[in-house]
Amino acid sequence: MTLLLHLADFNERRWADGFAAALPGYRVVTRADAYDPAEVDYIFIWKPKADAFDGLVSLKAILSLGAGVDAVLRHPNLPAGIPIVRFMDESLTQQMCDYILASALAHHRLVTRFARDKAAKRWSQLYPAPAWSTTVGVMGLGAIGSAAIRMLGAIGFRTRGWSRSAKQIEGVPTFAGPEGFDAFLSETDILVNVLPLTPETHGILNYETFAKLRKGGLDGYGPAVVNCGRGGHQREADLVRALTDGTLGSASLDVYESEPLPAESPLWNLDNVLFTPHIAGASTEKTGVVYFSQVIRDHMAGKPLPNIVDRARGY
Ligand SMILES: NC(=O)c1ccc[n+]([C@@H]2O[C@H](COP(=O)([O-])OP(=O)(O)OC[C@H]3O[C@@H](n4cnc5c(N)ncnc54)[C@H](OP(=O)(O)O)[C@@H]3O)[C@@H](O)[C@H]2O)c1
Repeated sequence: MTLLLHLADFNERRWADGFAAALPGYRVVTRADAYDPAEVDYIFIWKPKADAFDGLVSLKAILSLGAGVDAVLRHPNLPAGIPIVRFMDESLTQQMCDYILASALAHHRLVTRFARDKAAKRWSQLYPAPAWSTTVGVMGLGAIGSAAIRMLGAIGFRTRGWSRSAKQIEGVPTFAGPEGFDAFLSETDILVNVLPLTPETHGILNYETFAKLRKGGLDGYGPAVVNCGRGGHQREADLVRALTDGTLGSASLDVYESEPLPAESPLWNLDNVLFTPHIAGASTEKTGVVYFSQVIRDHMAGKPLPNIVDRARGY
């Protein structure tokens, strides 16, 4: 068995050492090593280059470091018919929920409003309402979104969710498809995006969407948007406009149309934007090696692959 690592922007050697230790007797190679592409059984990828799949005629599965596989599915030479397994584990889900909870609480507690007061040396008391006055609407009710809804509810927020197919979550109003979108938005104060990036969801965080959110929430400083899906979900010109004209009160952004965020982006200068550089959640060398070495061992033993991407659906 040969495992090829193709991890742009990551230290392939360190990951290879981790896999070699976890898979004794298996051959683990990086792009820098000498190997015969025809002997590669599994490729482990992040941001695959144009030649990533060249000559891999014996490939059994494509293993994606990212939970989101939009970049993989866009690859012009993606081999047809080979299953794609995406990363998913408890630590990634928890990290993403940490980011969502921190962001929801920050907007609910008017963090950017008080930061403005601090910058202006202004003492202006305002007691934010309890969490149950705020409704957090989560777009995407998969592994991450459904866990986030549970945790948001546990700390007191009202919640609601939106997905492609109808979902039942006890005590939570849920909405599905384009026909349920406006009703979902109409009572949402903090809009959280954890959708996969697909042709249907591209640009969904646009001015029209922002204008449909509930007005008057968050003590009059809302609504807020939290994007930890993909940069392709947001139209940044619309975000800047909405955050400037009051359609949105504040935002937390972890992902951007172009990454790294260009120095000339007006988003850098908006004091009602909480910025992070695409770090909401990721597999680490430790969790990624544990997860994918188990996937490989199980598959070699004849067990089915987990978390296979549905190429037609796009996630
Ligand atoms: N910022 C970061 O660091 C980071 C880290 C990890 C992941 N992510 C992003 O988070 C995304 C979600 O991850 P996940 O593991 O929760 O995904 P998942 O389990 O595949 O869930 C995706 C959810 O989105 C819904 N959905 C898909 N297309 C839709 C559409 N057109 N309209 C409405 N709902 C739609 C699905 O609906 P159904 O339930 O009906 O299928 C599902 O509920 C990833 O794709 C990735 O882009 C970001």
